[in-house]
Amino acid sequence: MEILAIVVLSFLILLLSAMAAFMVCLLWASFFTRVPFVPFPKALLPEVAKALELNANSKLYDLGCGDGRVLIECYKSQPSAQYVGIEKDIIPMVCAKIKLSKIKKPHTISILRKNFFKQNISDATHIFVYLLPGMMDALLPKLERELVLGTKLVTCDFAFSQKEPARIINFDRPAKSLGKRLLVYKF
Ligand SMILES: C[S@@+](CC[C@H](N)C(=O)[O-])C[C@H]1O[C@@H](n2cnc3c(N)ncnc32)[C@H](O)[C@@H]1O
Repeated sequence: MEILAIVVLSFLILLLSAMAAFMVCLLWASFFTRVPFVPFPKALLPEVAKALELNANSKLYDLGCGDGRVLIECYKSQPSAQYVGIEKDIIPMVCAKIKLSKIKKPHTISILRKNFFKQNISDATHIFVYLLPGMMDALLPKLERELVLGTKLVTCDFAFSQKEPARIINFDRPAKSLGKRLLVYKF
């Protein structure tokens, strides 16, 4: 009887520890990152692929790729191009890896767990970002330093404060929904 109580108690302690670790991960992901993981609206994914206008020689980076949905959508529309996702948080990263594991190999998508400020992106032909305005502005000097002339960047909703978009694509979406427009920039 005593042994059974010890086993049950140990199991409960293990379970509570696992739950506490999971909660710490979640809190860390949501409170200590400057841009939280907010996935790009599924309904607009084909619009991003259209706005990017990728070709077989393109190399697309998604800076803060979340669960990789934008890269996967673009890969489906242009499988010969190269795709790199950079994501610093563990939870969206794991989601991206799971999504990627469902795609037939070989494919041309790679996901790196990294801070995108520490990744050289000078070989990009295309960039996608879905970040908050402060982060957009923090990123601009790096983009201007590293991107070659003609690189196209597509972003959702939020603009750079110090750079004019080449094109704005507006969507007729319900008032409270995310993804009201895409902004296309040329470097
Ligand atoms: C709004 S979500 C967009 C996710 C994805 N691009 C999409 O459109 O579905 C922004 C993502 O950027 C990631 N992120 C923010 N700052 C980052 C950084 N410095 N390096 C890498 N990832 C970053 C966040 O963890 C989050 O997953």
